[in-house]
Amino acid sequence: MEKRAAWLVPLLVLVSCSRESTPPDWAVEDLRVEHLEAPLGLDEPAPRFTWKLASEARGEKQSAYRILVSGSGETVWDSGDVSSSDTTLVPYEGKPLEARARYQVEVEAWNRDGSASASAESFWETGMLGDWSARWIGFPTVESDRTPESAPSPYLRRSFTLEAPVKSARLYATALGLYEAHLNGTRVGEGIFMPGWTDYRRRIEYQTYDVSPLLRQGENVLEVVLGDGWYAGTIGWERKRHHYGPYPLGFLAELHVEHENGERGVIATDDAWKASEGPIRASDFLMGETYDARLDPTGAFPVSVLSPPEVALVGQHSPLVERIEEIPAVNRTEPSPGVYVFDFGQNLVGFARLRVEAEAGTRVEIRFAEILAPDGSLYTANLRTARSTDAYITKGRGPEVFEPHFTFHGFRYAEIRGYPGEPALDALTAVVVRSATPEAGVFETSSPLLDRLQRNIVWSQRGNFLSVPTDCPQRDERLGWMGDAQIFARTACFNSDVASFFTKWLQDVRDAQSDEGAFSDVAPRIVVTTDGSPGWGDAGVIVPWTLYGCYGDERLLARHYDAMRSWVEYIRSANPDLIRKNKLNNNYGDWVAIGSETSKELLATAFFAHDADLLARAARVLERQEDASSYQTLFERIRAAFIATFIDEEGRVLGDTQTGYVLALRFDLVPEELREKAVSHLVRAIEEKGGHLSTGFLGVKDLLPALGEGGRFDVAYRLLMNETFPSWGYEIRNGATTIWERWDGWTEEKGFQDPGMNSFNHYAFGSVGEWMYENVAGIDFDESAPANEGIVIRPRPGGGLTKARASYDSIRGRIESDWNLEGTRFELTVRIPVNTDAVVYVPGAVEDADGATVLREEEGFTVFAVGSGRYRFSSRVSPEPERSASRRRVAKREAVGVGPHGTDLEGS
Ligand code: BGC
Repeated sequence: MEKRAAWLVPLLVLVSCSRESTPPDWAVEDLRVEHLEAPLGLDEPAPRFTWKLASEARGEKQSAYRILVSGSGETVWDSGDVSSSDTTLVPYEGKPLEARARYQVEVEAWNRDGSASASAESFWETGMLGDWSARWIGFPTVESDRTPESAPSPYLRRSFTLEAPVKSARLYATALGLYEAHLNGTRVGEGIFMPGWTDYRRRIEYQTYDVSPLLRQGENVLEVVLGDGWYAGTIGWERKRHHYGPYPLGFLAELHVEHENGERGVIATDDAWKASEGPIRASDFLMGETYDARLDPTGAFPVSVLSPPEVALVGQHSPLVERIEEIPAVNRTEPSPGVYVFDFGQNLVGFARLRVEAEAGTRVEIRFAEILAPDGSLYTANLRTARSTDAYITKGRGPEVFEPHFTFHGFRYAEIRGYPGEPALDALTAVVVRSATPEAGVFETSSPLLDRLQRNIVWSQRGNFLSVPTDCPQRDERLGWMGDAQIFARTACFNSDVASFFTKWLQDVRDAQSDEGAFSDVAPRIVVTTDGSPGWGDAGVIVPWTLYGCYGDERLLARHYDAMRSWVEYIRSANPDLIRKNKLNNNYGDWVAIGSETSKELLATAFFAHDADLLARAARVLERQEDASSYQTLFERIRAAFIATFIDEEGRVLGDTQTGYVLALRFDLVPEELREKAVSHLVRAIEEKGGHLSTGFLGVKDLLPALGEGGRFDVAYRLLMNETFPSWGYEIRNGATTIWERWDGWTEEKGFQDPGMNSFNHYAFGSVGEWMYENVAGIDFDESAPANEGIVIRPRPGGGLTKARASYDSIRGRIESDWNLEGTRFELTVRIPVNTDAVVYVPGAVEDADGATVLREEEGFTVFAVGSGRYRFSSRVSPEPERSASRRRVAKREAVGVGPHGTDLEGS
């Protein structure tokens, strides 16, 4: 950066000697803008910068930083030398940003004693900032070509001549529907299903692409194909389409070109575009896609200019849905003549790529399912009305390859019909798609069962984080269910960097809030349009707070705060005596609990109390003192009402259900003196189920945490490692490769659950993942310090495990905890990122602490304070108490084929 020399002058002495002595390992890395790597099209007027620091030195910290931003060769912000350890979300405070401009950013950071400095550079580009000149265009496809389920996709095209060589070019594009753009025959960008799902009646995102390398001097062609997607396709179970608008689908784009000679030009959507139908004859997320390769788009007809929708157009600031992986089939069977079933060995979300060679006009159909019926055919009853069928009609000129454009399926198995002859195993390849949230966590242990559970959680997260967090990817539902999201959000943060994904979705949550303050059950609010239920609407308070804990994003909390408060007031005004019994809306209760029913008023009131508590905490963070104290008081009053109504003097919670105890304990609704008793009741309630859980969605997330906090890690591990029904292990023993919606999705006694509601890919019960990272591996955080500032490493060996290892790429850098148990010798290695401190709990009698400072002894642990770096501890622990169930180990079953899928504890 040219400007750098100027501002470095005052620091010359410091920097010049430090440059000599700079340890090679002091570095600034991973400089991000609004959580993103070099984003294009950012509409944020004051973007924030986050960077990480690298050094192998122990206890290393940042003492100061300087941020320099320039645009068009001019410095627009120089933060000056700031004495601060801040490295996350530091806001831009320079001159107002211009639309469609590139800004370079450099961050320089000094180490602990200022003896070393290092810097990193990146850039971002602003978006349209509302400055559009393009017109919405569409092409009404022929009525008679439509089916009740879809319509042919319009193909729009514009050819144009560029007179001079191109220096750079950006395409800004969005659609009412889905779009896929090609420039001179090359697909634009990596994403699919653009512009993603929002409430199109209020807000549509647009994407920005650097298309400089795709343009050339002379003739160019920009072609776009549109699909129904969320805008016009089927959503939910009502077989209803056009939730957001009628045909024609719309497209809006501006291509801004800068030539080497300095001239600029814009190609925008307008009446000069041409259109026609083409090979995509039908496409629908739930029904599938039909593609007739014999038809070429002619682009021969004029487009219609549409009246612009009255919505906000906002730059997309979160990951696009992308293809992330390909999975070959592992097996192929022929359950009936000419019908071939491919097994990909993993329940996944995406589509199948077909390879075929056949004479023109051959129709090959591919259907999808998560499981097989006993006769080896696809079991599709649980997809309900989702047809999930793609069809390809061959062109007939040699080998052909087909991938659908505007549909996705949840499947492990795919069936081909109509294939000419016997298809080879590679006739189908599964293509996995998801919102491209970067992976952040690794979790591994000595138990194949637990490792499979972790993989199942990750696969369910992958499959259901698709533009919005959805419940399931396969049946006619696929909605942004709020309850599921709040239960799983913390686990999701461990597995992936979901900061911008959830930031976007929380805008959807606000868009779905009623004028009265009611959050919804699903966001975007569609199909289920009623106000939110206990545990579902409450996600509007819980998720922002959870995210604040993960990323320390105060601005997000501030932007969401009023929405949180209106929700709490909406509940309070309907329930003046503080027992939440009114406005419970769909009131799902402890959804899909097994053999146990918790009082709905109890659940609702517990969540009301929790909301008030979190709101008070948010108000404290945002320094809204009055709110902080009034919502703290509200929490205490609801707590008192809860105790008076639902807890007796023996610490028994009304109904005596596991979920009742779990929520009362975890939401701090049990009088201090009764906590121990309540924990014993919880343990008894588990014993009464033969050592099994009975929790549904609302109880499951806090079940193991409540036991652990109550000192009953033995029981927590027993539930975690159980293989008998109902348990995570039971699903795995019966072949689960994703998390099931219901504990009894399939049982030895009853077979499949009612297909009316039986998904095999629902992440909610995967919310146990956070406990695994925090307690099994031991990467935890001090809740009072946001955004990974207070790292706590506290592994809780148990469950017969001999090792566990996790790493987590936090917003401040990678945290690792890795332990081994051999006999009574316990070894723990931790890695703490630069600029952070941690407390490390080492169990047993410590023999070696690698120079770490002892803080105190506590309940069988020696507690150490450490700064950044790697530390290795060893200790002697007493043998794990013999508790039969918790010591059960998983032996890999020889036989595959138990239950619906067979067991795979080794797979990927
Ligand atoms: C969904 C759930 C959702 C629930 C509401 C179901 O149909 O699949 O995940 O939270 O309805 O109770």
